[in-house]
Amino acid sequence: MTGARVWLVDLDLDLDLGRERDAGAPPASEVCDAHERARAAAFVDATDARRYLASHRALRLLLSSVTGREAGSIEFGREACRSCGGPHGRPVPVPSDDLHVSLSRSGRWAAVAVRAGAPVGVDVEGARPAGALDHLRPDVSPEDVDVDVLRAWVRKEALLKSTGEGLTTAMSALRLGPGPGGTTTDGRRGLVHDRRSATGVLLAVAGPALDAVEFTDVTPGVPTVRP
Ligand SMILES: CC(C)(COP(=O)(O)OP(=O)(O)OC[C@H]1O[C@@H](n2cnc3c(N)ncnc32)[C@H](O)[C@@H]1OP(=O)(O)O)[C@@H](O)C(=O)NCCC(=O)NCCS
Ligand SMILES: [Zn+2]
Repeated sequence: MTGARVWLVDLDLDLDLGRERDAGAPPASEVCDAHERARAAAFVDATDARRYLASHRALRLLLSSVTGREAGSIEFGREACRSCGGPHGRPVPVPSDDLHVSLSRSGRWAAVAVRAGAPVGVDVEGARPAGALDHLRPDVSPEDVDVDVLRAWVRKEALLKSTGEGLTTAMSALRLGPGPGGTTTDGRRGLVHDRRSATGVLLAVAGPALDAVEFTDVTPGVPTVRP
């Protein structure tokens, strides 16, 4: 199996993702499909709607930069739900060509993960004041009191997104321990890599036998992603 690529994206900036900066990149209105536009229109808050579309634009442009497929022509489907079998499980490109993606949003931040050959899950959470989530400890990581609750949260949510379970499985049911190369693992589900960005954002990426991750922080002061 292979590693994964992960991008941290600032949704409040108009980024030329996956392109040379001068070349320009199409806006969300050009690359997002009718389903994405309808979901955006259902948000009550205009900022949430714009960020939702910006995150799907980022997913499309970055996947386009990896595959060479036209961003607006990429189709997405859903795997069967792990709980009820309905069509609302993990999002997957169609045809997948065994390429796996994951998307996460938290306020102005999004994380996009792409992996060939095996599932991947990503989670991003904006910075919170130290101790702000300590009351969630019993529900999130009763097994490891040395880990900040938010960091435990992103690790476990990334793992549960890689399997498609999502939060239908309680985080407290996962027992993470040390993995190789500074990663964490629950053994059965896979390896988790996490990091804090220069802006204090926490993100984690996970998947079965995920042994390498290439992170790109697409925020001011770091280079725009190149194809
Ligand atoms: C997956 C889940 C943890 C994401 O939580 P969230 O607060 O929306 O967090 P994020 O921003 O990190 O992730 C959102 C993205 O996760 C992806 N996603 C949705 N369901 C997913 C699943 N089962 N597995 C992996 N990824 C999933 C989507 O790309 C979604 O983005 P979109 O809403 O723009 O399409 C949460 O939606 C969940 O638990 N879903 C499963 C619920 C379920 O199956 N209930 C039972 C129904 S019978
Ligand atoms: Zn379901």
